[in-house]
Amino acid sequence: MTRILRPYGRLSLCAGMTRRGSRLVDIGTDHGYLPIELCLSGRIPSALACDINPLPLRSAEENIARFGLSDIIKTRLSDGLAEVASEEADDIVIAGMGGELIRDILSAAPWVKDGSKRLILQPMTRHAELTKWLYENGFEILRQDAAFDEGKYYTALAARYTGEPKDCDLLTSIIGALETENELARGFLHRSLNDLENRRKGDPSLICEAEKLKEILSEDQKHS
Ligand SMILES: C[S@@+](CC[C@H](N)C(=O)[O-])C[C@H]1O[C@@H](n2cnc3c(N)ncnc32)[C@H](O)[C@@H]1O
Repeated sequence: MTRILRPYGRLSLCAGMTRRGSRLVDIGTDHGYLPIELCLSGRIPSALACDINPLPLRSAEENIARFGLSDIIKTRLSDGLAEVASEEADDIVIAGMGGELIRDILSAAPWVKDGSKRLILQPMTRHAELTKWLYENGFEILRQDAAFDEGKYYTALAARYTGEPKDCDLLTSIIGALETENELARGFLHRSLNDLENRRKGDPSLICEAEKLKEILSEDQKHS
């Protein structure tokens, strides 16, 4: 089978969270590799690849044509989900952007608050802001994992709307649904701990949260 995505990489993590046979929308598709791999493997029958910028969209179109998939992967210029209708999407992937931008894209499309949709989100930075928004806006995190890709840790999650908002403190927003005894998750959380420790220099209220996270990580290390 032709593989385009790095096995066990950041986008492979997202690919594994999609549902077989779903109508996939990839927001910020850039090169288009994610829908290409999913269609080539037969996991999904078709996809809509969107980007806000014409140049990346052209590069996606070229790659899609190179793999002979132009009939089943359509492209569209769209700022977030602005040009996408609810009926076109089962699974929505937003990967490779900052957590705050992903949050803003979702906030601007109230139709994602539909329990039949699955959101597959891969924030590059500020993942805690995204997790907090999801919990406080009635989404549940079905699954969250981490990957180590080209020397860096990343996280990706799958979420769906339940309509039951939950309070979310800083530590919950950082850990989300990651399993703290999982080695990759722990690697990612150590990266988050570093960020927190850098931020706490300017904000003493973060000291306690950083200490709690350190304790959780050291407890789990003892048990693993
Ligand atoms: C770093 S690339 C990520 C590409 C791919 N999703 C990945 O994870 O490898 C980010 C892409 O998102 C696009 N983008 C940025 N803001 C966007 C928005 N508001 N709506 C749609 N696409 C956006 C950029 O043009 C760029 O092609």
